[in-house]
Formats: sequence, C-alpha cells, structure tokens
Amino acid sequence: MRILVIVAHPNLDQSKVNKQWLERLQKEENVTVHNLYAEYPTFKIDVEKEQQLLVDHDRIVFQFPFYWYSSPALLKQWQDDVLTYGFAYGATGNKLHGKEMLLAISTGSPAEAYRDGGANRYPMEELVRPFQATANLCGLRFVPPFLLQGVLGLSETELQNSSEALIAYMKDSNLANK
Ligand SMILES: Cc1cc2nc3c(=O)[nH]c(=O)nc-3n(C[C@H](O)[C@H](O)[C@H](O)COP(=O)(O)O)c2cc1C
Repeated sequence: MRILVIVAHPNLDQSKVNKQWLERLQKEENVTVHNLYAEYPTFKIDVEKEQQLLVDHDRIVFQFPFYWYSSPALLKQWQDDVLTYGFAYGATGNKLHGKEMLLAISTGSPAEAYRDGGANRYPMEELVRPFQATANLCGLRFVPPFLLQGVLGLSETELQNSSEALIAYMKDSNLANK
C-alpha cells in the first residue's frame, strides 16, 4: 500500500496539531508527505506533478485543519486544477480508479458540537460529503475519515497519541471495511 499524505495548512508555524502530525509522518517509511502550501505558496499548482503523485500511490490522504466546515483554500484549488476531465473523471478518466481517499481532519469544536441539535448542527459525515462525492465521481473508495476534535484543550500527550493513532489508522490495510 503506497500512501500519499497531502497536507494543506496555510500557517504551519502556528499549528499545533497538523504540524505535529506532519513531522511525525515525515519519519515514517513508505509514506510520502506532500506539504501543499510549502510547495505552492502562490497557488500555482504543477498539475502534471500532482497527477503523477496520485498515479504513484494507492491511498490518498488529505490532512488539514477544518476551516469554515471545509478545507483550507489551497486544497480546493488543488482539486479544481488536478482532478481534470480525462484524468480523474469522464469516459477515459480512470487514473484514480480503485484507489482510496482518506481524510485526516482536526477541528476546533468538539465532537459533540457536530450533531443534530449541537452547536454546529450537522454531523461531520454530512459536512465532508463534497469530498465523498468527489471520490465517488473519480472512482476512489472513500474510507471513514480520521478525526481529532476539540483540539484547543489537548495536552501534549494527547497530541502525541493522536499522531501515533493517525499513523496506525492510515496504514490499516482494511479501512474500507470499517
Ligand atoms: C479560518 C479558520 C476557520 C476555522 N473554521 C473551523 C470550523 O469550521 N470548525 C471547527 O471546528 N474549527 C474551525 N477552526 C479551528 C481549526 O479547525 C483548528 O484551529 C485547527 O484544526 C487546529 O489545528 P492546527 O493546530 O494544526 O492549526 C477554524 C480556524 C480557522 C483559523
């Protein structure tokens, strides 16, 4: 299983969670970590390079902090530019077929805020539907997201544990059946 982690955080200097996840993942063998904002600070994406990275991996992980119930902007730009007709979808666009999409998301609000009647009203499952729909259209299997929620009050130990939990999760070959 070749794993590609596409990290989208616009301000890693001030990040607690995603920075720690990124640094821990970089130590992991057989995982390609791709820091999107470092690579494309001006949002000019090298589409061919990105498409080749996708072709070369089996499980595509999008790691990001939840911003306005979605991803930071560069990841949206990446989708708009990289998931082209004829590559990712359309009659001959089958390059991603059979791969997996995994989201690894940190949220400021706690898990209980993300439910019917909670502060954020809607479950995460509903809010990540655009990613799931994208996976569906591109023939990727959308596996259950890895979530770390209520991150503001996390202790250093909890943070470290989450990095280990993320690695174990993303390396699990059986995610599709979870
Ligand atoms: C612009 C912006 C938008 C945010 N929107 C949300 C949101 O919609 N829901 C939420 O739970 N947290 C939201 N947050 C909090 C972030 O998700 C949280 O700070 C982040 O996951 C922490 O990860 P980090 O330490 O890697 O930055 C937002 C933060 C920022 C800066």
